[in-house]
Amino acid sequence: MSTAIERFDEKARRRFESVGRTVVYVGELRRHPVYTRFLHWMVALFFFLALFSGFGIYLPWLFRWFTPIFGGGALSRSMHPWFGVGFVFFFGLQTLNWLKPMAWTRADTKWMRGMRGIVSGEEKLDPPDTGFFNAGQKVQFWEIVGGCVVYLISGIILWAGASTFGRTAVAVSYVLHDISALIMLGGIFIHIYLSTIGEPGTFQSMTRGAVSERWAWTFHPAWYKQVTGRDPREAYQKAREQAERPVNGTSSQS
Ligand code: HEM
Repeated sequence: MSTAIERFDEKARRRFESVGRTVVYVGELRRHPVYTRFLHWMVALFFFLALFSGFGIYLPWLFRWFTPIFGGGALSRSMHPWFGVGFVFFFGLQTLNWLKPMAWTRADTKWMRGMRGIVSGEEKLDPPDTGFFNAGQKVQFWEIVGGCVVYLISGIILWAGASTFGRTAVAVSYVLHDISALIMLGGIFIHIYLSTIGEPGTFQSMTRGAVSERWAWTFHPAWYKQVTGRDPREAYQKAREQAERPVNGTSSQS
């Protein structure tokens, strides 16, 4: 039986799919539908707008040069909370959209234990039970969910000011708001690195919505098995054998 959230997500996905397109070529798998991609890029847009307008407020002596982008210091200050609302709104919709694949499982606890080998590249493939998202992605996702709650509460207090909530609440909110921003910023740097250079082939999942089968069996073997019915280890071995097969008398690896 589907819940109200699932019905809402399904309807949104159908609607966005009728406007945008996801082309999947031979040797590829569909990863993110149009609705997910739209939400992701709206989240990213509002995140950076809030970040850059926030920098000018946080450290004006260092980041004053950001404020002209938003029409000056005063406008930066008045637009920043609205950028924050946009960020929390779109991430809220993404949270509903990803509730199921972001649920923590026993495989995630195992992934965390073996993280050293995966991150160092010692392991050529992620553990066989790694599904649609791995544990690292889930940790970051839930950190952003927590961050959004902190932003929302502390942001409303800062927006309304000491006359409504008192000076102590405003002082505490400043600290929480800034700590949350710094943690999220650090995480986003890692996220952008892994989504582009760190794990090649990932970026296209959020642009075209499709990934290569090789990418899927490497980073998300259980998801690969679930959508293709094939064994990821076998697919990997086959690809290796093909790469090692001599071409015109020479090995392609030589
Ligand atoms: C502008 C730079 C960014 C790039 C290049 C980027 C790229 C990507 C890509 C390619 C994925 C899909 C990963 C997969 O399918 O496994 C993804 C997922 C995701 N993105 Fe971004 N993203 C960016 C900014 C952001 C921002 C600003 C946020 C939130 C503050 C964010 C939050 C997420 C989350 C929660 C996921 C799902 C889990 C994950 O893959 O970590 N992204 N991103």
